[in-house]
Amino acid sequence: MTRPPRIAAVAAMLLSVCLPPALLAQEDDVFAFIPDGGRTLLGKLIDGGKVDSAEVVATRRSEDEWLGFLRGLSGSGLDDTQMATLAAYLASSMPAAEHAGKTIETAGRQLPRDGRDLTLEYCQSCHIITVVITQDRSREAWLGTMNKPSHVEIDTTQAERKEIADYLILNGGISIEDVPEELRAGGATY
Ligand code: HEC
Repeated sequence: MTRPPRIAAVAAMLLSVCLPPALLAQEDDVFAFIPDGGRTLLGKLIDGGKVDSAEVVATRRSEDEWLGFLRGLSGSGLDDTQMATLAAYLASSMPAAEHAGKTIETAGRQLPRDGRDLTLEYCQSCHIITVVITQDRSREAWLGTMNKPSHVEIDTTQAERKEIADYLILNGGISIEDVPEELRAGGATY
């Protein structure tokens, strides 16, 4: 992963930040290339009858313990990245009752927002989402950006920043060829 030529790329991004309303209206389609986060992955397991949803939403486990739990499911259909994404989500989001009021109805349950939800919510008001989702970075680099002066004002808790980082470490670094044309504007050549 090469780093963007900062000044030029950033200036170009900032000139092209306003998404046309039509894009926002079709949100689901335009952003379909961004991989599912833990909330959606869990919803699919619930819908498929693979887990006892009442037990999952009420249980606190570490990331490693959740990973073990997910590996033990038969026919989960999850690949390694999805399993890791879901384990990180479950470790920071369960028990779900602790996130009351910050949930999205999924598979008939109120599930806490995941890193993808938070990225879409908080990371595209100043620049296009492409700036974020095409970067392949370490945890330190993600948290470093979010704690920079240009980002520290964003109204997210440290726990939410960690959730965003957890998701992006595993799911960021999307190739620009996989980003829809309308989201490539603004000189995002990396
Ligand atoms: C308040 C406006 C604002 C919001 C909201 C915002 N950004 Fe940024 N972002 C900027 C600005 C300004 C730059 C270019 C200057 C800089 O890098 O500090 C930038 C650049 C970036 C870059 C490339 C340069 C770098 O520092 O790594 C990344 C990656 C990034 N933002 C990630 C994020 C993420 C993740 C979020 C959501 C948590 C987010 N941004 C939300 C203002 C914002």
